[in-house]
Amino acid sequence: MIIAIDGPAGSGKSSTAKAVAARLGAVYLDTGAMYRAVTLKALRKGIAYTDDDALAAVMRETEIGFDGAPPDTRIIMDGEDVSAAVRSDEVTKNVSDYCARDAVRKALVDQQRKIAAGHTVVCEGRDICTVVFPNAEVKVYMTASVEERAKRRQKDFAAMGIDKSLEELINDIGARDHKDSTRANSPLTKAEGAVEMNTTGMTLNDQIDFIVDLTTKNR
Ligand code: DC
Repeated sequence: MIIAIDGPAGSGKSSTAKAVAARLGAVYLDTGAMYRAVTLKALRKGIAYTDDDALAAVMRETEIGFDGAPPDTRIIMDGEDVSAAVRSDEVTKNVSDYCARDAVRKALVDQQRKIAAGHTVVCEGRDICTVVFPNAEVKVYMTASVEERAKRRQKDFAAMGIDKSLEELINDIGARDHKDSTRANSPLTKAEGAVEMNTTGMTLNDQIDFIVDLTTKNR
């Protein structure tokens, strides 16, 4: 069974999907972390996002996997735990450019389908309901206002001891939303049959209950 969740940055997907997976005893598949891992590797190797040949080579030689049960799932790239490194500012600022390339998307979509095969999976990203698992039993499109999402990001940064202005975060999120939803390849959009869930003002528990209820109804 596949529970597929799409939505823009900061809509609450990750924390909700992790908790839903933990509650259902399901595999948690964070596809954004996979795009981030590829971006990290390309940046480390000094590969420009426009260099499709070099990116195709990176996709052939890179192993990306997950370790541990949700909510403590770690992302492992070539044997290294990169869970913290993929959240750096540099990766966050560049990931929208790298993830739009055909070679990167094709390889990761194949891998996501392989990871999910035969399991109950909670999978979150931007193209999960539209492209990766269009036949998922549960499809959710999570949204929240830009201001609310920026406030959540500000809290996350504060927890890491980093002070960020709301204005900067609103600009960053707006820029990423624009790139993710206007790219030619698998843009972020609400899929046919997806249930829209506006999380503005909802608590994390409300969000978890909403998706668990949907899953129970669709079993
Ligand atoms: O969810 P996130 O912020 O960790 O995602 C990082 C980037 O990866 C985001 O800017 C868009 C991209 N992404 C994507 O294109 N397709 C997915 N299925 C998941 C993420």
